[in-house]
Parts: sequence; C-alpha cells; structure tokens
Amino acid sequence: MADLWQNAMDYAVAIARKAGEMVREALRDDRKVMTKSSSVDLVTQTDQKVEQLIIQSVKEKFPTHRFIGEESVAAGEACDLTDSPTWIIDPIDGTTNFVHAFPFVAISIGFSVNKQSEFGVVYSCLEDKMFTARRGKGAFCNGEQLKVSDQEDIKQSIIATEFGSSRDPEAVDKIFSSLRNILCIPVHGVRGAGSAAINLCLVASGCVEAYYEIGIHIWDVAAGSLIVSEAGGVLIDVEGGAVDLMSRRLVAANSRTIAERIVKEIDSFSPLRDDAPPPKQ
Ligand code: IPD
Repeated sequence: MADLWQNAMDYAVAIARKAGEMVREALRDDRKVMTKSSSVDLVTQTDQKVEQLIIQSVKEKFPTHRFIGEESVAAGEACDLTDSPTWIIDPIDGTTNFVHAFPFVAISIGFSVNKQSEFGVVYSCLEDKMFTARRGKGAFCNGEQLKVSDQEDIKQSIIATEFGSSRDPEAVDKIFSSLRNILCIPVHGVRGAGSAAINLCLVASGCVEAYYEIGIHIWDVAAGSLIVSEAGGVLIDVEGGAVDLMSRRLVAANSRTIAERIVKEIDSFSPLRDDAPPPKQ
C-alpha cells in the first residue's frame, strides 16, 4: 500500500525550506521584538509571518487538516489534539536565539493522526540541516540516517537541558537543583542549544546522550520526539512513565538506562498543561 502520509511529509520539508529562507532573510533586517507571557517570552513578526506561511500553504493542499501552532495558540486558539490529521507547528523554535542572532534556530513541523506521530521535520535553518523522521522508517539529517549514541554510562555522557522562559523563583530553584544533581553525578558536561527541537536532534544524532526540560510546549517537541525515537532513542516523563506531550515535561535519551538515571535526579514540577482550559475572565 502506498504510504499515505509520505506526500504530506515531502510537502512539509519543502515548506520548512521556504520558511528557513524567510528566517535567514529576516536575520539581516531589524527584528522588532514583542513579549507574550512574560518579559523573557519573546515573539517577533517573523514568528507570526512564518506560521501564517506554513498554515496557508498546508490549507491549500490539505483543506481538512487541523493545526496547533505556537503563535495561533498565543493569539487565543485552542491547543486541541484530536484524532484528525493535525500539523503541530513551531515557526521559530529558538526565538530568543533568533532575536540575538545566536545561531541555532529551527522550524519545527510535527504531524499526528489518531494522536500518533506520523512524521517530524526540524529544519535548523542557519546550519542548513534538515532533520526528518517518518514513523517506522528511521530518522535522517540531510539524507543521512541518524542513530543515537550507544554510551550507557551517564558519567561518560553530555546531557542537554534549558533554563526555559519561566522566571518563577520556585520553578527556577527546581531547575537549578536538578541541574546541580545531574552535573554532580558527575557527567562530562551539560549543554543547551536554546532550541528544544535542535536539542532533540542532537540526541538523535548521538552528539549528546540525553535532553530533558520542564516547561517546553507540544509545538517545541512534537517533531523532534519522533526524530529521537526513530533514531533508536527513548522518551519518558520526568517522573518516569509514558510521555504526554501536553504535559510540558520530557526526558529524551539514547537509552532507557540513561533516561531513568536522569529521572532519579530531577526535582520535578508541573507547569500548566498546554491543553488546560483558558482561565475564566
Ligand atoms: C523555546 C525553546 C527553548 C526552550 C523553551 C521553548 P520558542 O521555544 O525551545 O529552548 O527552553 O522551553 O519554549 O519559544 O523559541 O519557540
């Protein structure tokens, strides 16, 4: 049987390339910065324009498909994952990097049907690296197959994480407490690219053994999660157990051993879920 969603994935790759061009061009111009939930949760006109480009292009070809887009949700749309074919879009993952011209910026497009991830596309547009994964068919970067690291000793590992955009002192204390625990295992190092999608692609590429974060959103990780699992990695919740992409918590690792070792060190907390009903006015 023909692969029903390959066509959609090829289309996603083409749109991500076009979006990447827009981002590269915008980097040469002035970037007008606005804020969303706090003074460190940034958005630019380019985020909004790129999301419009992706959604309009997909609507022309797949008029019945649904969307979860970072900027559409910020504008008040529901973050609703149904069984319908759904495109999960982060137009610029690494907006803070983009604002500062820190060179790790990605367009992230996940696609899910019956709540199952079918493909993921992450275009790290300043490095010109196109990461793709199709369920059951492996993960690739610019056409080369990806495989996670085979290192099972956490003391020989590099772990990626981020500080995120919450400045709530209780959350920040927990983030630092987890970071301290992990650093002092000790591990070889801790890194963060400033883009959840790129961190996940680094796990899939075998450059780091794991990435964890509390505070990410479904659009940051929908595509990259499939890229990790198709490269042979595992995804679990920060307290162990099955991952729930709406919960804003994730550990992605090369192996269950490393993932579970990280879980032991995380001082966990639960941010407001992406699918939580909007607060009553
Ligand atoms: C953010 C980046 C960042 C991560 C945040 C995300 P955005 O996404 O992925 O690395 O720490 O949790 O929200 O806002 O640049 O799309």
